[in-house]
Amino acid sequence: MKFSQPILCKQCSLANWENVMFRRGLKVSVVGAAGGIGQPLSLLLKQNPLIKTLSLYDITSTRGVAADLSHICSDCHVCSFEGAGQMKASLVGADVVVVAAGLPRKPGMTRDQLLDANASVAASVAKAISDACPGALLAFITNPVNTIVPIVAEILKSEDAYDPKRLFGVTTLDVVRAKTFLSDSLGVEPQDVNVPVIGGHAGTTILPIISQCNPKFEGSDEEREQLVHRIQEAGTEVVKAKAGKGSATLSMAFAGAHFVNSLLRGINGEELVIECAYVESDVSEADYFSTPLLLGPKGIEENLGLPDLDEIEEAALEKLIPVLKKNIHTGVEYAQAII
Ligand code: NAI
Repeated sequence: MKFSQPILCKQCSLANWENVMFRRGLKVSVVGAAGGIGQPLSLLLKQNPLIKTLSLYDITSTRGVAADLSHICSDCHVCSFEGAGQMKASLVGADVVVVAAGLPRKPGMTRDQLLDANASVAASVAKAISDACPGALLAFITNPVNTIVPIVAEILKSEDAYDPKRLFGVTTLDVVRAKTFLSDSLGVEPQDVNVPVIGGHAGTTILPIISQCNPKFEGSDEEREQLVHRIQEAGTEVVKAKAGKGSATLSMAFAGAHFVNSLLRGINGEELVIECAYVESDVSEADYFSTPLLLGPKGIEENLGLPDLDEIEEAALEKLIPVLKKNIHTGVEYAQAII
């Protein structure tokens, strides 16, 4: 029996999608697809064999990106949605939505300074998600992640569409950086380094747990302190090097594609898929916190909790909690003011 393929492009109406009886493979929607992260992220996702439909949405310039990507000979249909009026249509039927929409930092800016610009973007995406794909797994890249995730959670709660197991702030880039920098110091391949990074995604809230690094880190305390500082400030290193032309886009695209792939592997029922991400959590006094998570078909299968910490890491954790709590409080207040 031959099934029609779910072609969801600009020419397709929502009704066409709803009439599709059979779905081949998984659908990922990228919001902010024409941006510095969105484009390389979409390029990597186009090559992912688990994805059969890649839906690209941006307020502008999506058409060209989608046309370009659609010429790549991989078994993944690309569809394009452009302008605020098409956001919902781009999300219908998504298994995973990855959001890289919003302003990046310029030199001298903190992530918190992006809140005014990006909070409303995240809120509008959350509203559209609650209507169009309430069962999807949601991966928010948009900064400041520490505050954006609580905002999205509050908006989804107000729409009766919140499931804490399905909402993730993407902190994978911190893990990617930790693996890379530690591998230089350990003299091994980055892919052979395992290190949890917990907390949040800004400055000292990013806490790499070097004591649990595998292979074991044997450097001096001073070397370790420098490593932790470099991981925490790696985003700023890129912002400075790009000198006003954006923040980390290529490494973030790599990290985002890796995280989305892990979500899809979980959806497909693969066992032992573990990633760190910033989620609603009760492992600390902060209501949202990044720890290693076991992923499954419906998102978080199990929060694996805090790794063992040594004294230095305990002290760093104690210091970061008030910062994170403040970031979260700001998000909840912002959301409640606009709901
Ligand atoms: P960019 O400015 O190059 O691209 C952002 C895209 O979002 C643009 O194409 C813009 O048109 C689009 N956009 C703006 N408002 C939108 C809306 N309402 N709906 C849909 N699309 C919209 O920025 P870039 O470099 O791609 O960064 C995106 C975000 O990712 C920033 O907030 C940045 O700080 C964050 N980021 C997060 C990281 C993480 O580790 N979580 C790492 C690096 C950046």
